[in-house]
Amino acid sequence: MSSIKSEPVLLINKLSNGVCVLTLNRPDHLNALNNALLSAISNHVSLANEDEDVAVILITGNEKTFAAGADINEMSALDMQGVLLDKRVSYWQQIAASKKPIIAVVNGYAFGGGCELAMHADIIIAGDNAKFAQPEIKLGVMPGAGGTQRLLHAVGKSMAMQMALTGEAIDAKQALKSGLISEICLPELSLERGLTLANTIAQQAQLAVAMIKKSIQTAQDTDLNTGLAFERQSFCLLAATEDRKEGLTAFKEKRQPEFKGR
Ligand code: CAA
Repeated sequence: MSSIKSEPVLLINKLSNGVCVLTLNRPDHLNALNNALLSAISNHVSLANEDEDVAVILITGNEKTFAAGADINEMSALDMQGVLLDKRVSYWQQIAASKKPIIAVVNGYAFGGGCELAMHADIIIAGDNAKFAQPEIKLGVMPGAGGTQRLLHAVGKSMAMQMALTGEAIDAKQALKSGLISEICLPELSLERGLTLANTIAQQAQLAVAMIKKSIQTAQDTDLNTGLAFERQSFCLLAATEDRKEGLTAFKEKRQPEFKGR
């Protein structure tokens, strides 16, 4: 019997400060998102959402690659029926349904499904070596995990068209300029920076965190008046929380608040 033990495709590290780190781990395949890896990501995003001890999810790869897209070997084995019935659709939906904030720390390639995975995050920070692309056109196909939709929201029409129609990559500076990412760091410091942001969010009043995430998402998905109404309603609901009382009292007493998530 073989004694070779295979490495898990996803490493999970639940930190004591409420941050759950998911590390893509198929380095020999540039973290290409095969079914096993995408399923593991979606499963652990769902588990983190049900876990009271997790406040923030951080998704990262390694210092050279975030993810080079869907696994082309698996993709090429599917005919039209296979694509239509693909279980990957539900994996992506589960990631998109996360109520808890997701931070993506991207170094190196974020191509195809890798760029789409990063765009499922609420905050993307990147190493200065990061490259973002939707290269599906070069394979004779198109982005299929939200690439044409989320990219438009993130970078605007002209850049989205340019990226998706040419397949050419943009670098971290271009990604920052066009609004796809919020910060650039040195690759070796990017995880630390991502963890610092995650920790800051994890220390906040978690009901407010959830409402802010939902409110900003609503703004993207609806018109201004619907978004404003949602924001107003959420703002009023938060007035009933213990954490609001604690936050305001702590400010007046010139001390740090102790939020309880209630
Ligand atoms: N799927 C499967 N394997 C992949 C892969 C992918 N998406 N990307 C890279 N690999 C594998 C390569 O086959 C290679 O394996 P071997 O050593 O066994 O040959 C290994 O990873 C290293 O890759 P390269 O030798 O190609 O590395 P490079 O540094 O020369 O080039 C790259 C890097 C430019 C990212 C190049 O690998 C590349 O173009 N990859 C494909 C990117 C792509 O087209 N992604 C989109 C996929 S479709 C999609 O994502 C659709 C969707 O989600 C809906």
